[in-house]
Amino acid sequence: MKKVILDVDTGVDDAMAIAYAAHSPELELIGLTTCFGNITAPEATRNTLAVVESLGKDIPVIEGAKETLRRGEKKQYSRHVHGEDGLGNALKAEPAGRPQPGHAVDFIIEQVKRYPNEVTIISVGPLTNLALALEKAPELVSLIPEVIVMGGAVTVPGNVTPYGEANIVADPEAAAVVFGSGLPLTLVGLDVTMQTLLPRTLLDDWRASGRRDALFLAEMTEFYMEFYESCYPGIGGCGLHDPLAVGVAIDPSLVKIEPMRVTVVTEGEEAGRTVGSPEGAPKIGVCTGVDAERFLRHFAGRIVG
Ligand code: BDR
Ligand code: CA
Repeated sequence: MKKVILDVDTGVDDAMAIAYAAHSPELELIGLTTCFGNITAPEATRNTLAVVESLGKDIPVIEGAKETLRRGEKKQYSRHVHGEDGLGNALKAEPAGRPQPGHAVDFIIEQVKRYPNEVTIISVGPLTNLALALEKAPELVSLIPEVIVMGGAVTVPGNVTPYGEANIVADPEAAAVVFGSGLPLTLVGLDVTMQTLLPRTLLDDWRASGRRDALFLAEMTEFYMEFYESCYPGIGGCGLHDPLAVGVAIDPSLVKIEPMRVTVVTEGEEAGRTVGSPEGAPKIGVCTGVDAERFLRHFAGRIVG
């Protein structure tokens, strides 16, 4: 079982990623750390607690960065994609649970030092918490065996600008720190996640299961699905961005990975662009292919299996 810290900005696909990880026996979810991104950090914490409650599990939730590494507060959130509440407007009541005291950055540092070379970090929001942890404790680089990041668009266009993907555009300086750190990193970007789509029919299966967590996911996904259908006519589903990062942690053979040095544009209209090169160091693994069918089967089986 891999010990995992999942760093989230809980939005709809983050919620699916949390459920997928929590239902996967290969992973031991030791903490969910939150960050601003799709919504504010306190909203991400609230949403994460609500998802954990729907799962009926006891997973620590620790709040993290409220603003970017160098640019202050994020200018615009993604409520048009994830709903006003970040959960497709499906949040009916405040969760009863509370976050664990302390800051996500300190939680990451403590856990990595407590379990050297054992903690996989999966980041599916802006990379701010991880960048802050590296700035505070640079020795983490040699203590983390695996980092899987949902972010970037190395071989394809972006989704929030023609160049940039949302998680990287949200904090390009943080991404630059993490990609240049030498951490053993796998980048699960739009290169592959725009091929892993959740068809609308699966929402019916989730409802038919009658399970509380699956019902909650189905309800929140309606809004997210409508965004995809209106933004990308004929696409046939919504993007399983964050769940694919969890899928890669469970089974890396789902993707084709190519080593590249990835730099991040931090200035001008291309800010947030991820540029891959076969030359130079440090290299990270960039996912350039995915067995989308096998992934979807695995993901769907875990959610209501
Ligand atoms: C990423 O951006 C967020 O909106 C999603 O949750 C995902 O992490 C996709 O670009
Ligand atoms: Ca996310």
